[in-house]
Amino acid sequence: MTRKILVTSALPYANGSIHLGHLVEYIQTDIWVRFQKMRGNTCHYVCADDTHGTPIMLRAEKEGITPEQLIDRVWHEHKADFDGFHVEFDNYYSTNSKETRHYADDIYFKLKQRGLIEVRAVEQFYDPVKEMFLPDRFIKGECPKCHAKDQYGDNCESCGTTYTPTELIHPYSAVSGAEPVHKSSDHYFFKLSDARCRDFLKSWITPPHVQNEAANKLNEWLESGLSDWDISRDAPYFGFEIPDAPGKFYYVWLDAPIGYMGSFKKLCADKGMDFDEYWKPDSKTELYHFIGKDILYFHALFWPAELQHAGYRTPTSVFAHGFLTVNGEKMSKSRGTFITADSYLKHGLNPEHLRYYYAAKLNGTMEDIDLNFEDFVAKVNSDLVGKYINIASRCAGFISKYFDGKLAFTDAGSLLDGAIASGHTVSASFESRDYGRALRDIMAIADRTNGEIAIAAPWTLARDETQREALHNICSRALHGFYVLSILLRPVMPALTSRIATELFDMKRDFKWDDLSVLPTCVNAYRHLMTRVDQKQIDAMIEANKQTMASTVDSHSPVRHAEAQQRAIAPIAETISIDDFGKVDLRVARIVNAEHVEGAEKLLKLTLDIGEEKPRTVFAGIKSVYDPEKLKGRMTVMVANLAPRKMKFGLSEGMVLAASGESPGLFILSPDDGAQPGMRIK
Ligand code: MSP
Ligand code: ZN
Repeated sequence: MTRKILVTSALPYANGSIHLGHLVEYIQTDIWVRFQKMRGNTCHYVCADDTHGTPIMLRAEKEGITPEQLIDRVWHEHKADFDGFHVEFDNYYSTNSKETRHYADDIYFKLKQRGLIEVRAVEQFYDPVKEMFLPDRFIKGECPKCHAKDQYGDNCESCGTTYTPTELIHPYSAVSGAEPVHKSSDHYFFKLSDARCRDFLKSWITPPHVQNEAANKLNEWLESGLSDWDISRDAPYFGFEIPDAPGKFYYVWLDAPIGYMGSFKKLCADKGMDFDEYWKPDSKTELYHFIGKDILYFHALFWPAELQHAGYRTPTSVFAHGFLTVNGEKMSKSRGTFITADSYLKHGLNPEHLRYYYAAKLNGTMEDIDLNFEDFVAKVNSDLVGKYINIASRCAGFISKYFDGKLAFTDAGSLLDGAIASGHTVSASFESRDYGRALRDIMAIADRTNGEIAIAAPWTLARDETQREALHNICSRALHGFYVLSILLRPVMPALTSRIATELFDMKRDFKWDDLSVLPTCVNAYRHLMTRVDQKQIDAMIEANKQTMASTVDSHSPVRHAEAQQRAIAPIAETISIDDFGKVDLRVARIVNAEHVEGAEKLLKLTLDIGEEKPRTVFAGIKSVYDPEKLKGRMTVMVANLAPRKMKFGLSEGMVLAASGESPGLFILSPDDGAQPGMRIK
């Protein structure tokens, strides 16, 4: 039975160009989709531009155009880039569509009906000149740690510290330059902390829904407690207004994944397909999301929880990949390695070379992959030109010249068995996204074929009229090898192999997987198929990117991992009165002693001096992050009037204060120099 599969790649933001990093994902997905289609499965591949949010609104304003004009222009740029790299979507759409709006509203109201939407006041930085709330990225200031100037609101590019915008020294709005003020406003939250979400996710975030390595990370997040998710933003905002909340808009990450549904809905309308068959809760179809590891949080926690509770099916699997580095380092504008898709193509480089190189490096895990240009040149020239194309260029001419283009096989049975067996092995690797392994197996076939050619030496046979049969045999075998290689490589190099099918093997169509079980019968005259890549082209491209990128708008946000996102929006607890606060007696404490506790995994035993006659004993769960020796003598803060608690290891007479969040780490507090043990903190 043929499978019915819906596949997506993450939706690229409509305020930046597609670059070589993005292409890791779109090429990875496209290979998988093409493989599925070749196998005869029904497979739909949809994507769209992610068009909403503050950055896009502000960029359009800066360019003096409407957001709609901006996203329309970028859509065409993105589409051209994808076409250029043979990334073939069945529908490439926009989240700013009536279909996406429909499903966003639908999901919002269903979640609301089930009591999973809550309104709460949130205090945020507000630009009083521009009259808008400022996302972290649009607040700048001095780093509280290293005092570098003009750092973003969520992390310092100079020393790497992460923090919240309120910690910046002399914060200012990156939009107007004004000093931001605190302002409160109502926000809509998706109640991820609700037991229904937690319980559902707990059972959901397991293989095969997510990769093993992802499951561990996700479980950590889940264990540390999910905060409710802020899904609204105040006007002015470019997005969809929430129908029953005038002036409030869905946060861009709410409607972005819903854009997958929007794009598919449009495809269904165009092709007369049944949307519900793919999205109803008990659907028999498969749904896969290819994403980068940076957006796992959204796709493996928020998204399935939303779908589940709004009455839709959840993904079959979320496939996360790692990040691209170039020559071993993060893509960098100053080094010229922040290379756009467009620039790669404009420098005359072959898109299928990059597809091949990425495929060779991808193995279905979340490991980062490195594009090393020296290695790229060597590998492409050696594997593709030296081993693969060379088979045809050396042997096809003899078939045309002496045998009227006809192939003849003396051992058809064993050739077919070999081809079919290779097909099984390679297809298992493609299916599991281990393209690196697939290509190693494929190149082994090329090596074997070249070995046979070298031994038989057709160029020598050709000089001897009595050796015609031997010549015919070796060249036919070699071209069969080339045919098999071309079928297996089609998902990776669709344009090249399409030419091989139609021009060389004279087929009226592209290869399909089943072609492995038949033998080719003839070849046309050989025509040039592939040119080597020249290091000079690469050098020119890198040089050009050094010059031009510096002047273009920085559309690549500094840090946008979901942890930072989640921390920044974690809602503040319920309001309390000053009297409530006064009930907590906080004291400066000196750690006179700190030691390990026999048998306790997480605890350190602290002896705290707060100026009383007898020091206090407190057990603190900080063993994993603090060396007791380093704590001795240090000042900290404790809750002095907490009811004593009897623990397995003794009585704990208070609590020391420590900060923690979604990102790793635990940080105990310390007062400024001069504070004395016993001072009250108010
Ligand atoms: N708009 C969001 C996705 C919304 S999906 C409902 C977004 N856009 S993005 O343009 O920043 O990234 C699109 C995809 O490209 C993401 O999956 C991201 O992980 C991937 N990549 C972006 N830069 C990358 C590298 N340097 N390396 C590998 N993948 C990268 O996130
Ligand atoms: Zn800093």
